[in-house]
Amino acid sequence: MSTILLSSSILSADFSQLGNQIREAEEAGVDWIHVDVMDGHFVPNITMGPFIVEHCRKITSLPLDVHLMIEKPENHIEAFSNAGASHLSVHIENNPNVYRTLEHIRSLSVKPGIVLNPGTPAAAISSVIPLVDIILVMTVNPGFSGQKFIPSVVPKISDVREILISQHAKAMIQVDGGITEQTLPLTYKAGARVFVAATAIFKHPQGIAAGVQMLRKSVN
Ligand code: DX5
Ligand code: ZN
Repeated sequence: MSTILLSSSILSADFSQLGNQIREAEEAGVDWIHVDVMDGHFVPNITMGPFIVEHCRKITSLPLDVHLMIEKPENHIEAFSNAGASHLSVHIENNPNVYRTLEHIRSLSVKPGIVLNPGTPAAAISSVIPLVDIILVMTVNPGFSGQKFIPSVVPKISDVREILISQHAKAMIQVDGGITEQTLPLTYKAGARVFVAATAIFKHPQGIAAGVQMLRKSVN
């Protein structure tokens, strides 16, 4: 039996029923709740902020896996930590203060993550690997749920794994974007162990539990 973690992205949840949707995902056995924060600058879309994280924190005891797709993430670390984020992942791109930001996240007892866009090579994160618990390899261009998986990113997952081995680092490799029962096994084989899914869980035609089950079954 393969050990994988599923992080369900509420971006595709029905927000008029957010509490129930999170509870349903938790009952279906997801491991983390993924919160996609977008500011309309770093990515074209605008979504949610610390206020939503605070409400998620009241609904579930699962780890809140917060993915920041915002400019100047360093200005918002304390707000997300105070709101109850368990993990805070920031992008390597356009982030001159990333080293300090990751240290700051750790100092607040939140797990730091680093994120790579599809166009960024694995080597870009080499010097921050000792600072992080999570390496998130984007398998779509960030900004929206429901996009198509980019298969050419898969070799980069193996590159990240190689860098981790060479540094004797224990960070987990996470993938995000277009993850389905077809694409999950491809990324698993390359070294990913944490899988973010919005559409495949919250928009599964047979419901949330069926979506979770299909993803889990895909690697067994
Ligand atoms: C995209 C977000 C993803 C998104 C995934 O920018 O980071 O977390 O919600 O959505 P799906 O699983 O539908 O590709
Ligand atoms: Zn995300």
